[in-house]
Amino acid sequence: MNILTKGLIASLVLVGGVALAKEGVQDPTVKARMDLMSTIGMNTRVLGDMAGGKTEFDAAAAEAAKAALIAASNDVAAKFEVQATDPVAEAKPEIWTNWDDFVAKAAALTAAASAVDTSSAATIQAGMGAIGGSCRDCHSAYRM
Ligand code: HEC
Repeated sequence: MNILTKGLIASLVLVGGVALAKEGVQDPTVKARMDLMSTIGMNTRVLGDMAGGKTEFDAAAAEAAKAALIAASNDVAAKFEVQATDPVAEAKPEIWTNWDDFVAKAAALTAAASAVDTSSAATIQAGMGAIGGSCRDCHSAYRM
């Protein structure tokens, strides 16, 4: 098996995992916020793959991914506002007891995405640290 095939299988397993998690979701509010996070994940991957040279640099696709990240991060507060639960949900209840901090962490992603310069793979790479940092900051505090 060559490296390309292995990489493809690894990404299929990743995508499959996400799809399985969502299949089990019953609560529509939880599903909507998971879908929003999946959108954030997919667009982050588009930028990360270009930054890392895994996919060819494409200015229009990079700009679209950046715009999608900004829009999705601006939608986090609305999608999480109602404290819905589901057996497969990974959102910690602390979100709703530290709401202002949670919203500030979403705004940090908006700021990081807005700051990304999509003019080349190298400039995207320079902005990926701040984007990844904003995911980690929020997930480590508010995701199980
Ligand atoms: C403001 C907080 C916050 C930020 C910022 C954030 N996330 Fe999340 N993310 C969450 C929470 C909370 C969950 C768990 C949601 C649930 O299961 O109800 C989650 C879940 C996810 C999931 C799983 C979705 C699913 O289908 O179960 C992915 C993928 C994800 N985030 C990717 C990202 C990426 C990539 C970034 C950064 C670019 C990011 N997130 C930034 C809070 C955040």
